[in-house]
Amino acid sequence: MALYKIISYNTDTQIFVWKITETERELRESIVLQEKHQIRLNGMLSEQHRKGFLSVRKLLQQAGYEDKDLTYDENGKPHLSDGKNISITHSYEFSAIIVSTRNVGIDLEMKREKIVRIANKFIGSECDYLDKNNQYIEQLGVIWGAKEALYKMCNSRSLSFKQDIHIHDFTQNKDKGTALVDCKGLDFSKKFTFHFENFENYTLVYALEDE
Ligand SMILES: CC(C)(COP(=O)(O)OP(=O)(O)OC[C@H]1O[C@@H](n2cnc3c(N)ncnc32)[C@H](O)[C@@H]1OP(=O)(O)O)[C@@H](O)C(=O)NCCC(=O)NCCS
Repeated sequence: MALYKIISYNTDTQIFVWKITETERELRESIVLQEKHQIRLNGMLSEQHRKGFLSVRKLLQQAGYEDKDLTYDENGKPHLSDGKNISITHSYEFSAIIVSTRNVGIDLEMKREKIVRIANKFIGSECDYLDKNNQYIEQLGVIWGAKEALYKMCNSRSLSFKQDIHIHDFTQNKDKGTALVDCKGLDFSKKFTFHFENFENYTLVYALEDE
């Protein structure tokens, strides 16, 4: 069993992180999947993807749920049967979930220099404070992770990372920031708080909609 860490944000919100050290068979042996999820798993071509999917079920167990408690809507957003909110992420050796009574989102990314090459695709208002000479890759990683987490919370396919999701200057803080999702076309405007931390070669970002 490779539960890596639990972050108890408060009594209503917990984050569970798994480090995938098991073989696929070991993961499969301890999990019962609903038929539709078994079919989905069988269709995954990559072992890494299958292990990510299975390890999320291990995290569900840690949070007191089973695979049968999880459904997905037509956009692929996961939902829990008891009405609590869940968000899921997996990246190479790690997976993570956040479970909360509030609207939440989570993202895990491996740190890679490649992010500099694609920055112009997802950076918009953040140009005002980003400094290319000061931890640029790390800061881009946090912005990307925060935008993915927020995208998962808003459940609208038409949101633009560049134009609609704004990560406010967090560079003076070590572990948190605020953000605004403002989509004029959809008449949609919401504020969020996000938290980030680094472990091994990964950046974890989780976000909560402001109350
Ligand atoms: C759906 C998306 C958010 C997934 O993020 P990702 O970094 O590729 O992958 P992650 O491992 O972090 O997240 C995958 C999980 O997100 C969840 N998810 C998928 N679609 C979702 C949605 N519409 N809303 C909320 N959660 C969603 C699922 O639980 C999925 O895991 P599972 O199917 O195994 O349970 C991403 O692929 C996406 O579409 N992003 C928005 C578009 C975009 O990337 N624009 C870039 C502009 S530069």
